Amino acid sequence: MKILVTGGAGYIESHTVIELQKAGHEPIILDNLYNASEKVISRIEAITGKRPAFYNTDIRDREGLCKVFDEEKPDAVIHFAGLKAVGESVKKPWEYYDNNITGTLTLVDVMRQHGCKNMIFSSSATVYGDPAFVPITEECPKGTCTNPYGWTKSMLEQILTDVQYADKEWNVILLRYFNPIGAHKSGTMGENPNGIPNNLMPYITQVAVGKLKELHVYGNDYDTPDGTGVRDYIHVVDLAKGHVCALKKLAPGSGLNIYNLGTGHGYSVLDIVKNFEAANGIKIPYVIDPRREGDIATCYCSAAKADKELGWKAQYDIRDMCEDSWRWQKNNPNGYDD
Ligand code: NAD
Ligand code: UD1
Repeated sequence: MKILVTGGAGYIESHTVIELQKAGHEPIILDNLYNASEKVISRIEAITGKRPAFYNTDIRDREGLCKVFDEEKPDAVIHFAGLKAVGESVKKPWEYYDNNITGTLTLVDVMRQHGCKNMIFSSSATVYGDPAFVPITEECPKGTCTNPYGWTKSMLEQILTDVQYADKEWNVILLRYFNPIGAHKSGTMGENPNGIPNNLMPYITQVAVGKLKELHVYGNDYDTPDGTGVRDYIHVVDLAKGHVCALKKLAPGSGLNIYNLGTGHGYSVLDIVKNFEAANGIKIPYVIDPRREGDIATCYCSAAKADKELGWKAQYDIRDMCEDSWRWQKNNPNGYDD
């Protein structure tokens, strides 16, 4: 199938483009390069031998989108494009709502005008808020988000649900990702955060490479086995493969479906530090800081529904995630600028 991948040059997206190519699909990348480097396209080509088509286009640019749909006539869209920095979203709510919500509304309108009504949407575990129970199943009620970024995901889920309800020609899959980490095994592609990383694994790898002095552990007084926050970390390549499996489900009449994509295992911050040290033989100095505003104690999923209905299950373990994150960072201390 021909698949338009919005945000296709980004972290999860670029790994998904590789898995789509490997599965025989033809991914088309659309990205405004706000948080990505065009160099990723050559890296994809070096791995798969196929250069994906690339459009430097913003999802809010209706004319630009129409041109892509007229030229490429995609069968389905995997819609990743969006702004994703939690802290920044608190400071720039308008920019987040405009980019993520206006962008998606424009995309959906152009899709229906072009008769393309198949979409996989990147949602997040953040929609569960402080979850009512763990492991989180898809039946767990959505919760209160603590920031505009989270609200854009929650609102977009509702918008896409309403669009599909009103027009049954739409087939929509909402994928709720847990915490993607890791990188491609080649060590040539991975996460490339701007400035000081907000997320745990890129922070650890920057400590390991000597760019940052020590890890700040946000709180050790949570109600968890060692007092630090527990999350469901998933290898980005497993996550990417989840999209390929989800595409098979996106058949006519499939309606609206929601899946958690995680491993089902919870690891604390200190578990991750220990696993990173053991996997890579590098000491990660850390200090305990106060809790970070908006954080929750524990978040991990049941991925049983994706296993049963999509035939998808995460394959990589925490050691792979730690080794692969480090290989990428070590080989590319400055990300795609190296
Ligand atoms: P990323 O920033 O690497 O990728 C997003 C891509 O979208 C970037 O390449 C960026 O340039 C592009 N983009 C942003 N706004 C755009 C616009 N208006 N038009 C065109 N392109 C635009 O982020 P990622 O980590 O790969 O995340 C991908 C998706 O998954 C996002 O929607 C994110 O919210 C969601 N998600 C990510 C995580 C995570 O931890 N990384 C967790 C849950 C959900
Ligand atoms: C964060 C976002 C969430 C988003 C997800 C994936 C917040 C509040 N939530 O989730 O909306 O969907 O990323 O992009 O930002 N930690 C440290 N020190 C650090 C960084 C993190 O101790 O320097 C801890 C955190 O307190 C948490 C765990 O590590 O317990 C994971 O943090 P992080 O990687 O930021 O992911 P989430 O907070 O789960």
